Amino acid sequence: MNTLSAKRLLLVVTGGIAAYKAPDVVRRLRDAGAEVRVVMTPAATAFITPLTLQAVSGHDVREGLFDPAAEAAMGHIELARWCDALVVAPASADFIARLRLGQADDLASAVCLATGAPLLLAPAMNRQMWAHPATQDNLAALRERGVAVVGPGSGSQACGEVGPGRMVEAETIVTAAGALFESGRLAGRRVVITAGPTREAIDPVRFISNHSSGKMGYAVAAAAREAGASVTLVSGPTGLEPPAGVHTVRVESALDMFAAVRAALAGCDIFIATAAVADYRPAQAAAGKIKRDGETRTLELVPNPDILASVAALTPAPFTVGFAAETHDVEAYARAKLERKGIDMIAANLVGEGDVGFNSDDNELLVLWRDGEQRLERAPKTRLARTLVELVAARYAAAR
Ligand SMILES: Cc1cc2nc3c(=O)[nH]c(=O)nc-3n(C[C@H](O)[C@H](O)[C@H](O)COP(=O)(O)O)c2cc1C
Repeated sequence: MNTLSAKRLLLVVTGGIAAYKAPDVVRRLRDAGAEVRVVMTPAATAFITPLTLQAVSGHDVREGLFDPAAEAAMGHIELARWCDALVVAPASADFIARLRLGQADDLASAVCLATGAPLLLAPAMNRQMWAHPATQDNLAALRERGVAVVGPGSGSQACGEVGPGRMVEAETIVTAAGALFESGRLAGRRVVITAGPTREAIDPVRFISNHSSGKMGYAVAAAAREAGASVTLVSGPTGLEPPAGVHTVRVESALDMFAAVRAALAGCDIFIATAAVADYRPAQAAAGKIKRDGETRTLELVPNPDILASVAALTPAPFTVGFAAETHDVEAYARAKLERKGIDMIAANLVGEGDVGFNSDDNELLVLWRDGEQRLERAPKTRLARTLVELVAARYAAAR
């Protein structure tokens, strides 16, 4: 499986000789399916031009922190939120030191500090600089904080010396970037996920539906797959591409979704219901198109089955996770839903306000379980989905 497919990667290029290899890193990351944007330190521009990196990445290259035009388009905070992961290649000794201190005195370091996305460093420097206790201390502290490091390799260096300090090859950086997304937390587990809206037919051309885009559910399915699970995604109508490596079953109505979920449940360890399933459907769908006749019409609605509650009521039941989209009193409604449906976890979000929730690329969630909760701050749904899957995996392990 290609874990870089559709990932948004920020490549930070710092001031070292190996900056000349950065275009190859961009090209190979893009070949692996990632969208790549580049930020350079001012020192990096002494080694390679932004124009080259712009040409290979297909995006403007950012360098200055105080650039009004760039801030108006995608400010440093948006850039930090935009990316699913950051790759610093080459990572200079100086940049590593600044990262360790948490400095934010240029765009590259400010973005690294402002993001919650995983970070990969590909150090490249003279062997003495590499061996210096200051550099080794800095890297040890960064590793301790969860920063991934690939390389350096060993061999002859641009400065004429021989030893460790060469940046590893672009292909090795691509593999290490992919590994940022593979936790293996759900290896060997079967996960069933529902996503999207449902359509409840009124007649052959009309239906009742809702604004769910399916983005959150698709992101959760991709994240569960990356965590090593075997995933079935039961999806209502969406305009989204099925995530790579995920068995996707397309359905229309709540009844179709119910049937598809039941068919997929054998051996299921975790069931995650992100779909916005219609609570009601027309009692009868007209066989032919209903014609306008100027009369007032009444549509009789009957309740749909509660898919989540019925899965939670099975014995044995999989670990069940629900979603609650509320317009107000999110926490109170979500906790009530957790109890009422007898589910293990619920992820609640506020919809209908601002630019999070339905149809948006961003979301923020309050995740509740019987004796705990965790707030997942606003982030792109892809990143939020990975954090959620890690949390689900941890609660699932604790519940077994
Ligand atoms: C010709 C030349 C080559 C350099 N190569 C490296 C290098 O490979 N690795 C490194 O850590 N620093 C190297 N430096 C030093 C960095 O450019 C310097 O520490 C700079 O402040 C790094 O800035 P940055 O971390 O903001 O990119 C080199 C300097 C020069 C003049």
